[in-house]
Amino acid sequence: MAVLVTGGAGYIGSHTAVALGETGRDVVIVDNFVNSSPRAVEAVRALTTAEVALVEVDLCDGEAVRRVFAQYPITEVVHFAAHKAVAESVEKPVAYYRNNLDSLLGLLEAMLDNGVGSLVHSSSCTVYGQPEVLPVSESAPVGAESPYGWTKLMSEQIITDVCAVRPMDAMILRYFNPVGAHPSGTLGEDPNDIPNNLVPLVMEVACGRRETLQVFGGDYDTVDGSGVRDYIHVVDLAEAHVAALDVLVGGHRGAVAVNVGTGTGTSVLELIEAARRATGAAIPYEICERRAGDIAKTWAATDLAAELLGWRATRDIDDMMRDHWRWQCQNPDGYGR
Ligand code: UFG
Repeated sequence: MAVLVTGGAGYIGSHTAVALGETGRDVVIVDNFVNSSPRAVEAVRALTTAEVALVEVDLCDGEAVRRVFAQYPITEVVHFAAHKAVAESVEKPVAYYRNNLDSLLGLLEAMLDNGVGSLVHSSSCTVYGQPEVLPVSESAPVGAESPYGWTKLMSEQIITDVCAVRPMDAMILRYFNPVGAHPSGTLGEDPNDIPNNLVPLVMEVACGRRETLQVFGGDYDTVDGSGVRDYIHVVDLAEAHVAALDVLVGGHRGAVAVNVGTGTGTSVLELIEAARRATGAAIPYEICERRAGDIAKTWAATDLAAELLGWRATRDIDDMMRDHWRWQCQNPDGYGR
């Protein structure tokens, strides 16, 4: 018995592979390394005693996916592999729809053909846009403002439709903003190009690689005018995947979408303060124009995750900054691709 982890060399996938290994499950990672490194899989193996197989596969190659299911005794699937850059998706919509939807469809076909009926799928709070009511609950209206966001919504719909008529059950996890790193400092986020996300940029300023941080917007209707997000430690997020699989194996039926956040909003300026505490660095910043497409604020309602998964985040913003900083210091060039 093994869990297939697609995109298992990526940021969230690699942390989840470790968390799955801690429960005694063997793991089969498939990844095409377009935005990840085989060295992440080496780091996963060093952190677990479970078997961790690795197959380099593009999930859009249906034949190759079928071979993976023929070769390994897969009983459960956690699906991460996808393109994930919002701005790039606006530039390359066809590539995003092709990759993110073809890969899911091929995976679902292989699961159905092989009688594998437990799926945990990675979705995003991007499906809520700017929520009218905070904290945002799973029953809030959904929509999308980028091809990336649409691929997440369409994926949710596809999975829901399949689970309605076929022997398949799914937990669709809507992540808020994952940050942090494994406490060992050997596993973390390694953005391929120039980072876009706040925390990798803050860390680059903290270590002197970048002079100042640009804070996008100082006039939002928030606690201090800067944008507010629900940052979640990547190890908490990984543990939510294990809880979700346990619930599926325990007999949950159908498909359900569940928020995975802490329930706490943190502004950009508050996060900079936390990063200063963790790093001891000054972290100079300047308030700039708002970034196109950004929402003002969001944070998660967490009751459903607590009720259904028996899971709540346990790590706070200081834990997130401390662990991200440790990873940054120990691996200034990430995995050194
Ligand atoms: N920010 C800055 N300066 C920067 C980068 C970001 O001030 O240099 C601010 C943003 O304006 C925002 C906050 O930091 O207020 C967080 O920005 P991120 O880019 O880290 O994260 P987003 O919330 O914009 O995006 C994340 C994921 C997307 C996902 C989106 C919505 O990265 O993949 O949440 O779910 F689509």
